[in-house]
Amino acid sequence: MIQKDGSFVLFSGSSHEGLARGIASELGASLGKILRETFPDGEIGIQIQENVRGKDVFIVQSGARRPNHYLMELLIMVDAFKRASARSISLVLPYFAYARQDRKEKPRVPITAKLVANLLEKAGATRVLTMDLHTDQIQGFFDIPVDHLYARPLFVRTFKKLALKNLIVVSPDVGSNKMARKFAEDLNVDLAIVDKRRIGADCVETSAIIGDVSGKNVLLVDDICSTGKTLRSAALACRKEGAQSIRAAVTHALFAKEALEDSGIEEVYVTDTIPQDLRGVKSISTAPLFAQAIDCVVHAKSISSLFTADLEENYEEIDSVSKKRP
Ligand code: R5P
Repeated sequence: MIQKDGSFVLFSGSSHEGLARGIASELGASLGKILRETFPDGEIGIQIQENVRGKDVFIVQSGARRPNHYLMELLIMVDAFKRASARSISLVLPYFAYARQDRKEKPRVPITAKLVANLLEKAGATRVLTMDLHTDQIQGFFDIPVDHLYARPLFVRTFKKLALKNLIVVSPDVGSNKMARKFAEDLNVDLAIVDKRRIGADCVETSAIIGDVSGKNVLLVDDICSTGKTLRSAALACRKEGAQSIRAAVTHALFAKEALEDSGIEEVYVTDTIPQDLRGVKSISTAPLFAQAIDCVVHAKSISSLFTADLEENYEEIDSVSKKRP
């Protein structure tokens, strides 16, 4: 059970105050006071408006939509907390921006995910708490503890309740295969894989499906939906192979442009790691999960119990916390 604890304080960056407030509410805490201003030349100024000396500080900042602005703001906040003598500075990053630039896939390109990790650590962050990183290896870009949460249990719980017959989990590309396999195992259904080739930042090509989706209710799963081309192209391929219905579950709904319009996907389930208006998608709150994770950090409890132990047991606990919301 989450307990109110005066030893930690939760602050929000400007990227996703709604989620930060949700996490605070789950923890029975209120958000710390901070003043933000923009100078006439565009520079960011902040001032922490309460004493944080000797406190464990948690900062919620999601990197979507204005990644460069939110990253700079976060670095400035971390610097301010460090200089205000916070005991520790944990970053709650529901969506880790630049995660897709995690390797040199062609010559003379940066590894920006590593650069971001270096910047955060150099600024003074002592821990990162994040969700569904594009690849697990990004944890290794940091030399501080990284607690990596998964949205899968939230989606699995939702789909178990829907109890769809003839369900099959489909990975829209080989990169999402590991995630899709875990979904299939948790839901106890078959798995199929779409063979996707990215031709450019804005263009994908699908050639074949490995597995049989004919007559099945398809659940496409992916960590990110940006232009929607990956999911749209996978949905078209499934439809062509005779799928009965198509749904999608996406952790980070970047939804650039008119993603997923006319994709033929009947229902899209997302989480709230990125702020969005909810038209046309079903959003699942991650606030209880992040609150539980913060509680684990503060009270030195195991976080892995949030995704490896019995799902129902964990989420019954989260439900009971959620009911306490005002
Ligand atoms: C790629 O490897 C990711 O897992 C997503 O499939 C990708 O970022 C989706 O991008 P888009 O929606 O632009 O196709």
